[in-house]
Amino acid sequence: MRLTVNGRIFDVDAAPDTALLYVLRNDLELNGPKYGCGLGECGACAVLIDGVAARSCVIPIDGCIGRDIVTLEGLGTRERPDPVQEAFIAEQAAQCGYCLNGMIITTKALLTRNPRPTETEVLEALRYNLCRCGAHIEIIRAAMRAAGHELEARD
Ligand code: FES
Ligand code: FES
Repeated sequence: MRLTVNGRIFDVDAAPDTALLYVLRNDLELNGPKYGCGLGECGACAVLIDGVAARSCVIPIDGCIGRDIVTLEGLGTRERPDPVQEAFIAEQAAQCGYCLNGMIITTKALLTRNPRPTETEVLEALRYNLCRCGAHIEIIRAAMRAAGHELEARD
């Protein structure tokens, strides 16, 4: 199976119904996407497929052929992070960090289709991404910062 991930082409030896998440993590060593629920419900495994946030734990690789897959690793580097990644760092929007892949990828997809979302639109976009640590306030601030909104200083 031939996949395009982060601008590179990979030939993967896996069954067509293998979940994309397993191929990314186990074959391509791209560990940004996380295994959370494995059921398409938490968002930890999100990647961009043709610019749209998708849950890689429930997407078979044969549905990804010829499509442009971008993982967290493809957004930016440690030296040159994506503006969404910068915003999450600036807001220190994490506790354990396990959900952050999905939060960042979903925010990126939102800003691609809507560069200046309202807070309501941010909340709507992220409402199916679960954070077990309760870092939601910082995560929403980070998404708002990434969208270019001025934020009031926190106490
Ligand atoms: S691990 Fe894919 S949605 Fe939870
Ligand atoms: S920061 Fe731990 S799950 Fe969100």
